[in-house]
Amino acid sequence: MNELDALVDSARQGFEQAATPADLENAKAVFLGKSGRITELMKGLASLSIDEKKARGAVINQAKQAIEAALNARRQALADAELDAQLKAEALDVTLAGRQAGQGGLHPVSLTLERIEGIFGSMGFDVAQGPEIESDWFNFTALNTPEDHPARSMHDTFYVEGGTATAPNLLRTHTSPMQIRHAVQHVNAHRALLDAGETMPEIRVIAPGRTYRVDSDATHSPMFHQCEGLWIGANVSFKDLKVVFTDFCRTFFESDDLVLRFRPSFFPFTEPSAEIDIQFQSGPLAGRWLEVAGSGQVHPNVVRNMGLDPEKYIGFAFGMGPDRLTMLRYGVNDLRLFFDGDIRFLSQFQ
Ligand code: DAH
Repeated sequence: MNELDALVDSARQGFEQAATPADLENAKAVFLGKSGRITELMKGLASLSIDEKKARGAVINQAKQAIEAALNARRQALADAELDAQLKAEALDVTLAGRQAGQGGLHPVSLTLERIEGIFGSMGFDVAQGPEIESDWFNFTALNTPEDHPARSMHDTFYVEGGTATAPNLLRTHTSPMQIRHAVQHVNAHRALLDAGETMPEIRVIAPGRTYRVDSDATHSPMFHQCEGLWIGANVSFKDLKVVFTDFCRTFFESDDLVLRFRPSFFPFTEPSAEIDIQFQSGPLAGRWLEVAGSGQVHPNVVRNMGLDPEKYIGFAFGMGPDRLTMLRYGVNDLRLFFDGDIRFLSQFQ
């Protein structure tokens, strides 16, 4: 083996032993660098004759090209190895089972509202929604509760800036304003019939939603839910209220083993008025009277504010607490649990 073949051979070995691109660059410098072996050989040409230069130069060049080829091959091999290692390290096992995405569900109070809407819907009641920021007029005055009425003090609420008695100025303290809003809309829709002296179709509606009061303990929250009910017609009586509400309670709690009591009470917007209590005859709550709603025959002043003649139209209203109903149905003893947003509590209802 001549001296140049030996040089190419040792370059190949040197490159082969380089384990990283940095090692390879160092090995390259030994052979192809400024003061590397090939450069040294080139410098040696200076002392030769022209013919000798040609011959010797050609073989040195061949050796140089062979070394460069070996270098490039090794570079490629190292790059391939690096890519392989990276691919292995970042490998995705597409056959692995996916991570289960958390599945949401309805809030227990929403479940109750759905039940309420379903049951009253089956009895021919519409469902109406109204604003939570309400005006003095709808929340109080139209409901026969003028400004100086003592009943207002039981409904301490949050007032918003910029309102007036007729423009939105407070967070509604109950869903009762929806009685007026819905009735007025209904009356306007049947204006032609009324003007012709005919009887309009009955108003039969429930209005569920959020309500607000300055109140907070285990059974009261500053934000809570109510569901209003209203049935107005030419001949709707307290008897109808009893039938409808009894039916509702028995369906809601899935129990015929349940009795109702209409306990005389006072609300400015009904006369006579009654609290509705229920009593389970069996189960953990058996024997206790539990208040679930306020109710009564709609006061003539309220009927008038609906745009109707109280001599011709009569009916009943009720307002119940879906939060309370949810507590009774599921045996929850602290109302605040519903609004803390603790997933461990809420997930039990899915
Ligand atoms: N709005 C009343 C309250 O929040 C509840 C109520 C009582 C509603 C009697 C009614 C009713 O519709 O007739 O305390």
